[in-house]
Amino acid sequence: MNRTTVEVPLPTRRSTIQLARRLAPTLAGGDLVILSGPLGSGKTFFTRALSRALGLPASVRVTSPTFTLVHEYATSVPLAHADLYRIQRPEEVRELGLDAMRDDGWLVVAEWAEPYRALLGGDALLIRFTLDPRAALLSALGPRWEPVVGALGQTTAACPRTCSRSARR
Ligand SMILES: Nc1ncnc2c1ncn2[C@@H]1O[C@H](COP(=O)(O)OP(=O)(O)O)[C@@H](O)[C@H]1O
Ligand SMILES: [Mg+2]
Repeated sequence: MNRTTVEVPLPTRRSTIQLARRLAPTLAGGDLVILSGPLGSGKTFFTRALSRALGLPASVRVTSPTFTLVHEYATSVPLAHADLYRIQRPEEVRELGLDAMRDDGWLVVAEWAEPYRALLGGDALLIRFTLDPRAALLSALGPRWEPVVGALGQTTAACPRTCSRSARR
């Protein structure tokens, strides 16, 4: 399958925040965003930035749901942040009911969810974070995501790694 993939360099935390801000307006209830990449590569940091970009006040803390598995936020599009790192069996994913939450209009952002994509309801935006160098590889898994990833590729090309501070504001 020929799928659209775009690489966005993330040399600074600020660039990760900017990626979240660019992506936020394109997200809707029912969407699934899968975050993968090694520990410390920025999956939770990105989700926090996304929550802020979706209107979550700074007074509400966004922490890793590693033990609680799912955190819910009253963002402009209601956001469920899941971390499936500790999941041992696919049935545990089913029991979380994230696919039903999608049906109910939640935006589901799930760390370590790549193996469970089908259980979570298919079509997804996959963001793979790398550490050395820090970057995000965004892949459209399904037609809904092709234009989103394509547009991000264009804005990235218009404002590459070297673009000036003022242009990035
Ligand atoms: N460009 C960057 N993007 C995201 N996080 C960064 C970046 N540079 C440094 N960091 C730091 O890396 C860490 C990422 O941690 P976290 O988001 O919890 O990772 P993960 O959820 O992937 O395990 C944070 O401490 C963050 O401040
Ligand atoms: Mg995390």
